[in-house]
Amino acid sequence: MVDGFDVLREREVESWLSVGNGVIGTRGSLEDDDDASNPGTYVAGAYVQGSDEGSGPELAPVPDWIRLVPLVSDTAVTLLTGTVVELHRALDLRHGVLTRTWCQSLDSGLQVWFRSARFASMADPQILVLWAELEADGAEAHFVAGGEEPVLREIPARIGAVELATVTRCPPGQVVRLGAVRRPWAGEERSAAKVLADADRQGVTRLFERHRAAWERRWGNADVVVEGDPEAQRALRFAVYHLISAGEASGTSSIGARGLTGPGYHGHVFWDTEVFALPFFFAAHPPTARGLLAYRHRLLPAARAKAAAMGYRGALYPWESADTGEEVTPPFAYGPSGERIPILTGSQEHHIAADVAWATWSYWAWTGDEDFLLTCGAEILVETARFWASRARRRRDGRLHIGKVIGPDEYHESVDDNAFTNLLARWNLERAAEIVEHLSDSRGDGREVLSRLACQSGEAERWRRVAAGLVDGFDPASGLYEQFAGYFALEDLAAAELAEPPFAADVVLGSRRLRRSQIIKQADVLMAAHMLPEALPPEVATANYRYYEPRTSHGSSLSPAIHAAVAARVGAADDALSYFHMAAGIDLGDEMGNAAQGVHMAALGGLWQAAVAGFGGARVGLDALRVDPRLPPSWRRLAFPVTFRGARVEVDVAGNTLTLSLDAPARVAVGSRPPVRLRAGRHVARRRLGEWSAPKEVALR
Ligand code: BGC
Repeated sequence: MVDGFDVLREREVESWLSVGNGVIGTRGSLEDDDDASNPGTYVAGAYVQGSDEGSGPELAPVPDWIRLVPLVSDTAVTLLTGTVVELHRALDLRHGVLTRTWCQSLDSGLQVWFRSARFASMADPQILVLWAELEADGAEAHFVAGGEEPVLREIPARIGAVELATVTRCPPGQVVRLGAVRRPWAGEERSAAKVLADADRQGVTRLFERHRAAWERRWGNADVVVEGDPEAQRALRFAVYHLISAGEASGTSSIGARGLTGPGYHGHVFWDTEVFALPFFFAAHPPTARGLLAYRHRLLPAARAKAAAMGYRGALYPWESADTGEEVTPPFAYGPSGERIPILTGSQEHHIAADVAWATWSYWAWTGDEDFLLTCGAEILVETARFWASRARRRRDGRLHIGKVIGPDEYHESVDDNAFTNLLARWNLERAAEIVEHLSDSRGDGREVLSRLACQSGEAERWRRVAAGLVDGFDPASGLYEQFAGYFALEDLAAAELAEPPFAADVVLGSRRLRRSQIIKQADVLMAAHMLPEALPPEVATANYRYYEPRTSHGSSLSPAIHAAVAARVGAADDALSYFHMAAGIDLGDEMGNAAQGVHMAALGGLWQAAVAGFGGARVGLDALRVDPRLPPSWRRLAFPVTFRGARVEVDVAGNTLTLSLDAPARVAVGSRPPVRLRAGRHVARRRLGEWSAPKEVALR
């Protein structure tokens, strides 16, 4: 609920209050406009060429379908005419509806009431609905709101035109506006006018009921309950709401860094989607996860072309991706004094190849979706492994190295052997080798896939040799990974002595000194500890957490939630909770100062991961769902559902009791115990002296 109108915060509020369904999103701007506002509607996958010098594609501006002008006795009423008696906007997270109540007292003494509601249908993602009513005691009040006939517009986008059709009906004192969008390239066959006519026939009440039921189904498999920390509870529901609103399953588009809630990063797609947002969908809505990975599969040809242009084999995904899969990272940005600063991430941030592979494999582990593996997954894993095998070069020390990259910590460019990149590349090579072996052991289909991918005999073996030969900067004596070759020799500074994290260290320290220091932007080695827990066992994760955490400025919104998850795992409970709250404040407290550009999808996905994988300890391997909860002392209870290989598993931790409720059998490992097959039903484990007992089935009363 947002009360009143704060000119300085309005744009950030508009981001929070966005409504969306993965296909279309509209910011929470007031219908009657205001100079402080930055309204926006975005259609997934619809990019146009940006007009600024050096700019690439950006999400197409879509006509502002929410616009209404309230008139009382033929005079427009705004927030500035008379005084505001009451203004509040409420976002119903559970049902995806934004409502507004506004009462204005005019200079004549007349009171005007304006109420509105809007949603982007979750039941039929091509449909938009806006309803409003206007009342003024003793005066004539109506909206100026377009005609009765459908208005059809074509918005040219790079891969085809988007159709937008609207119709406005004006029963006395009210307005009902329906909108329909159609993206021909996404297989949406019916014309926008047909979709609109169908919506019009259904009527607002029916449209709303179907929309509400669809949202309830989505929450039924996604809600995270926290008792003992209302702020964390609110932040998690906010995160789940925006994650559900952002993802679509058609396979033609993916989630931009700010979803469909604002213009930030021009709607470009980063590793934010695969590594931060996708884990939520693995567990809460696998069809969306599959669609988002299908987007990467569809764009493999462009990823192959990028690798080939750089002299490598296989596929290298673009650091920033849009509609065609070409690299769309801007080549430069302007610095404070108007100077051009080259942006090197597009040519050097190669870990994206392994990030996509990681998500592909993780989806398979969560769902067991063999059809996806055969049609898309194997190809992504094989082509990215081929990239790494050609990317690694043998040096005089006889080992294999990956030179001149940018790791997750973007403060240090052109570095050699970034530990995160090399660990993920090794993991990518090993998993691809396993998949090839898995497919050659299987009958018909698997072998066909291998022949389609032209897998040579001995190729998997070669990947294993490359994986084994790659340096990773690990020092067994200290248990530390060196972030990249030469990092430990840089100036040693503590982040907290420079400013209070989170802060942009390039601004505080200047980029020259920053580059020569150990101050880092975001989780880097710790990112590997989070994504590959088997590769960095607890004692190694602990040593690296102690080293890197004090040196991190959290200059990226991606960082705090991952610190929360890793801190929970290494038993740093206080840190875990404070990082969780730092992550929660990125949008709701505008901690990065840029929530006006849209909510931060990666931070929201990270928050879900911090709760579910960090505090809840729920992770998936090929053998089982693993649950090893570590709640912060102030959280009395944490409960969430996950969908694991077709079974819905409700995890409920309260104090020393863990209850698992399954609607179908599944293999589950509790704490450090080996996996067991649990039957459908309720199972309870108890913690004594820090160890979880084996889960025992309990009869349902
Ligand atoms: C971060 C990247 C992230 C990008 C988009 C950058 O500031 O360093 O890791 O992918 O923002 O969110």
